[in-house]
Amino acid sequence: MRIILLGGPGSGKGTQAKMLVEKLGIPQISTGDIFRAALKEGTPMGLKAKTYMDKGELVPDDVVIGVVQERLSKPDLDKGYMLDGFPRTLGQAKALDKMLESQGKSINHAVLVDVPDEELVKRLSGRRTCRNSACGAMFHVMFNPPKADGVCDICGSELYQRDDDNEKTIRERLAVYNNQTAPLIQYYADKDLLRKVQGVGPIEEIFGRIEKAIL
Ligand code: AP5
Ligand code: MG
Ligand code: ZN
Repeated sequence: MRIILLGGPGSGKGTQAKMLVEKLGIPQISTGDIFRAALKEGTPMGLKAKTYMDKGELVPDDVVIGVVQERLSKPDLDKGYMLDGFPRTLGQAKALDKMLESQGKSINHAVLVDVPDEELVKRLSGRRTCRNSACGAMFHVMFNPPKADGVCDICGSELYQRDDDNEKTIRERLAVYNNQTAPLIQYYADKDLLRKVQGVGPIEEIFGRIEKAIL
């Protein structure tokens, strides 16, 4: 099964993707995670991406599309995959359609995790992310606190606050989402692939709504 996870910054794409990986046994492909991993390694692509991420802007389409093209050519995707945070522009969506077409494949579901802007700001301001990129678990100081302060429940690594999780950058990410990514909702609705899920409420309940929408 090939799934796109759509939704604003902080809507819970990563949180739900981690649970779906367990349930469906297919990998999560997060372009944001790929850029953060590249930055950690200090590659030119990672350093270039950082200049956009720090401002809350989108990394240029040609860079992102190249990264996804490379990832989609790997051999671990036979059972499918989840795209988290890609596509984010109409150009990316059309490029994805072309890539899939050339592989004789298609998307099964575009799941929109729908959360109002003010809730997104609260979620991102309190998010804590696991520093171990192989784990990458997300917590929230109020809504989903780790058992021990600053320590990942799952792997025991340190938790940190992402550089782009500050109020100014969060506002910019929201504006970018509403201007450049929200048009994809109609794009996938027109293809009859949109599954809109209400994204406010307990994490487990939202997971149940997503399962119902796709299984
Ligand atoms: P990316 O890493 O994709 O960030 P994002 O889209 O802004 O989304 P987030 O990862 O911030 O949120 P999420 O939806 O995963 O929420 P999470 O589950 O963590 O992208 C970062 C940057 O990279 C972009 O700004 C851009 O520069 C660049 N980039 C990436 N992809 C790109 C692309 N395709 N094109 C161009 N540029 C690209 O949850 C958030 C918080 O809420 C957590 O603390 C969590 O514990 C909490 N939470 C989750 N669910 C709930 C709930 N139900 N109730 C209460 N709290 C909850
Ligand atoms: Mg994420
Ligand atoms: Zn961890």
